[in-house]
Amino acid sequence: MVISNKIKTAIQNGSMVRLMFEDGIKLKIQYGKDAVFDYSLGNPDLPPPLAFKAALEEVAAEDKPGAHGYMPNAGLQETRSEIAKYLTETHWEELGAIFDVDHVIMTVGAAGGLNCVMKAILDPGDEVLVLAPYFMEYFYYVDNHGGALKVVETDSGFRPVPGRIWDAIGKKTKALLINTPNNPTGAVYGPGELREIGEVLSQASNRFKRDIVLVSDEPYRKITFKGIKAPSVLAAYDRSVMVTSFSKDLSIPGERLGYVAINPRMAGAGDLSSAVTLANRILGSVNAPALIQRVVKNLLREEADLGMYEERSVFLAGELRKLGYEVSEPEGAFYLFPKSPIPDDLVFASLLREENILAVPGEGFGRPGHFRLSLCLDKPMIQRSLQGFSRALEKARHSFDGEGQ
Ligand SMILES: Cc1ncc(COP(=O)(O)O)c(C=O)c1O
Repeated sequence: MVISNKIKTAIQNGSMVRLMFEDGIKLKIQYGKDAVFDYSLGNPDLPPPLAFKAALEEVAAEDKPGAHGYMPNAGLQETRSEIAKYLTETHWEELGAIFDVDHVIMTVGAAGGLNCVMKAILDPGDEVLVLAPYFMEYFYYVDNHGGALKVVETDSGFRPVPGRIWDAIGKKTKALLINTPNNPTGAVYGPGELREIGEVLSQASNRFKRDIVLVSDEPYRKITFKGIKAPSVLAAYDRSVMVTSFSKDLSIPGERLGYVAINPRMAGAGDLSSAVTLANRILGSVNAPALIQRVVKNLLREEADLGMYEERSVFLAGELRKLGYEVSEPEGAFYLFPKSPIPDDLVFASLLREENILAVPGEGFGRPGHFRLSLCLDKPMIQRSLQGFSRALEKARHSFDGEGQ
C-alpha cells in the first residue's frame, strides 16, 4: 500500500462532518432533497450579495495584461492594501494601530491561512492549545507542521477559563488557537475575556521566556447576533495574528479566499509576515486565487444577508426548546449546539438520522453529550424537520427509560 500510516489513520477516523455530508448526498438521492434535513456541514446556502456578481462581471471584462499570471506569494498589492485600510479602520478604536500592506497575506481560505501560520511558527514537538469544543480540522492544521494539539476545556457555558489555560501552558507551548465567534458553540468572546487571555499569555511568555502566539481564527467575525459586535482579538495581546476568510460572510467558500493579518504592534511583525508568505509558497498554494482577489477588493464592507442566520437560530432554538431540548443561545456564527437528550451523542445522532436529520455528534468537536446543527437550511426546511426532532427525542427517552429498567 502506497498510503502513509498517518493518512490511513486519518481516512479511517474520517471527519464526522464530511462523512455526514457525504451520507446526506446519498440520502438525498434516495429520498429526494426536500426530505433530507442536512444540518451537517457549515456550507453557507445564502446567495452572495448582489455587489459580488457585479464585481465579478467587472473583473471578467477587464483586459489587464498578466491578470492571470503568478504574483507575489503574499497576494495582489491592491487587494492587500484595501484590506490593510479596512483593518486599520475597523480595529482602530480598540487597537489604535495602522496596518500596512505587509501585515496582510492573502491565503487559500482561512484553512490555508491557518496552515501557513502553523508552518511559520511551529518546530517539531511544539504544542498548540485549543479551547474545546473546537473545529476538528485544527488537529490536522497543527499536526501537518509537526505540532501537537493540547485541548483545554471551556466551562459548561463554553466560556474560556483563564486559569485552565494558564495550567495547560508549559515550555513546549507555542500558541493558543482560539475561534470567536465560535464553531460549534456560537460563543463570542467579550473584551474582558480576551484581555484575561492576553494577560495569561503575557505572563506565561515571561515565565517560559518564549513568545507564545495568539492565533485568532475569525471567519465568522461578521456573523453576530443580539447586537453583539465581535471585539478585536488583536487589541488584547500584541503577539497575535488574525486569520479570516470571505467564505462565510460573502457566502463564497468554494472560491477559497482568506487572509492572515499580523498585529502591527507585534515585535518582529515583518519577520512573521515573511515567514507566512514563504509558507504560502512552499505549501504549494504559491498564491491565493488571482481572480477572486481582484473581485473582493471592493467588497470588504459587503456581506450576504447574514441576518438570516440569527432568524433561523432564534426560530430553531425556540422550537427545539418547546419540544424539550436544552439549547443555549448562540451569540454568533451559524450553529446550534444543543445538549444530547441521552449521554451518548453518537447514538442520538443515529436516532436523528432515522428521521433523515443529519447532525454532527459533539464528540467530533471534543465535547461529547451535545450535537451540532448547522443553520445552512432555509426556514421552511427547518420547519419541516421539527417533527423528526420530536420523534427522535421520544425514541431517545424511551430507549433511555428502557435501559434504566
Ligand atoms: C472555525 C473555522 N475555521 C476555519 C474554517 C475554514 O474556513 P475556509 O473555508 O475559509 O477555509 C471553518 C470552516 O467551516 C471554520 O468553521
